Amino acid sequence: MTARRTPFQKAKQAIIDQKLLPQEYISLLPRRWKRVGQVGIFELHPQLLEWKEKIGEIYLTYLPELRTTAHKVGITSNTTRQPSYEILAGERNTVTLHKELGCKFWIDALKLTYSNGNHAERQRMVRMSTDDEQIIDMFACVGNLSLPIAVHHASTQIIGIEINPYAFKFLEKNIQENGLTNQYQAILGDNRKKTPQNWANRVIMGYFTIDKPQLTAALASLQQQDGGTIHAHGLEGSNQASEMQGKLETVIEESFPQFKVKSMQTRIIKSVAPGVNHFVKDFELKTS
Ligand SMILES: C[S@@+](CC[C@H](N)C(=O)[O-])C[C@H]1O[C@@H](n2cnc3c(N)ncnc32)[C@H](O)[C@@H]1O
Repeated sequence: MTARRTPFQKAKQAIIDQKLLPQEYISLLPRRWKRVGQVGIFELHPQLLEWKEKIGEIYLTYLPELRTTAHKVGITSNTTRQPSYEILAGERNTVTLHKELGCKFWIDALKLTYSNGNHAERQRMVRMSTDDEQIIDMFACVGNLSLPIAVHHASTQIIGIEINPYAFKFLEKNIQENGLTNQYQAILGDNRKKTPQNWANRVIMGYFTIDKPQLTAALASLQQQDGGTIHAHGLEGSNQASEMQGKLETVIEESFPQFKVKSMQTRIIKSVAPGVNHFVKDFELKTS
């Protein structure tokens, strides 16, 4: 018995059947793709670019949930982590509704970051959090890591801070859309200045280049009598010693001598390049 083909495999077969590409380029077709709402994002091999629009059209035809196909043309850069994508086929308006973990995320899939590779981390945040927590998401974007916590823990209060007005607009919309106005407060601005103090028992820092003022703001935001947990993300080589831990310990020594790191766990979220991983470190801080 032959296994049923997925729509993605059927699209590849159509490219072969329609002789869209010379035979020797078929093996260069993407093996994976990512979907954000109704937008499909592919990584095309440079040798396939000559046929990019036609390839995009075929994927659009065979993947019925899509309205737009796009491909990656550069790296995600600058403070606001704007990705570099180009539309291949379909609608130009890439504002879409993505549904995951019982949450509705409105997002502009081509102008803001939403990593499918962070799905397990979004799930883990929901599992780790308990009811009645006070959580700060210092790099909230459209609510990627913190909206699901609010949806699954109705008595938890969350504050999300976002510097990019365009992402902030979607964060506010998503708070409304998921019925979280009594639970989730969004703050527009730089988390170095806007993070509330002495409030949180859990702080999420979903960003690759966390600096010392941001670690200071995170430590100041914890309940100073009790401490709490900081989830600090970053990138590092698999053999590299942890810079993040050293930085955090320096800030504690200099400005928060009441805190002790009671435990530290590292979790690899995904590989982003050969030998380079996106990790998250969970620091549990206590006062005695
Ligand atoms: C890479 S996205 C990550 C979103 C989410 N935390 C995740 O891990 O999926 C980082 C977000 O942090 C925001 N950001 C960067 N620097 C910031 C700052 N100083 N204060 C507040 N937000 C900031 C960016 O605009 C972007 O939306």
